[in-house]
Amino acid sequence: MTDDGASAFALVDKIINRYGGERGTLIQILLDVQKENRWLSGESLEHIAERLHVPLPRVYEIATFYKAFSLTERGRHLVTVCLGTACHVRGAPTLLDRISRKLGVKSGGTSSDGRFTLLTVNCMGCCALGPVIAIDESYFSNPSNSDFDRILGQYK
Ligand code: FES
Repeated sequence: MTDDGASAFALVDKIINRYGGERGTLIQILLDVQKENRWLSGESLEHIAERLHVPLPRVYEIATFYKAFSLTERGRHLVTVCLGTACHVRGAPTLLDRISRKLGVKSGGTSSDGRFTLLTVNCMGCCALGPVIAIDESYFSNPSNSDFDRILGQYK
């Protein structure tokens, strides 16, 4: 679902209502909107600020502080490459380079078909699998180019 238009605000309103419109639930509301829309648009942040009677700069302060939030539109799936020490020494930079070329984007970018956003992190907590990538919630250990093509084909 995109975050532009009445239906997106209907979703945001539904989330706000789930928490009773309480100001103290701002972070949880932002997390839920991020999860549903995959990013936080300026319009949705304004709407949340209005509904919760929280100053807009405060909403932006929180939305820009936590790494979990994205203020730029993301693809339908997140491809995350671990660049932590254990993965780094096992070839993560080369893996990132291969994946970046396959998707045609650098880290932080979204593929032209809107399917994938490429991200990097500093550890996924499964160092023994390194170098490791994740696509959404699934982890893959050092996929070859052909593995990666096959895996990508599973995500529409
Ligand atoms: S360093 Fe990559 S999973 Fe820990």
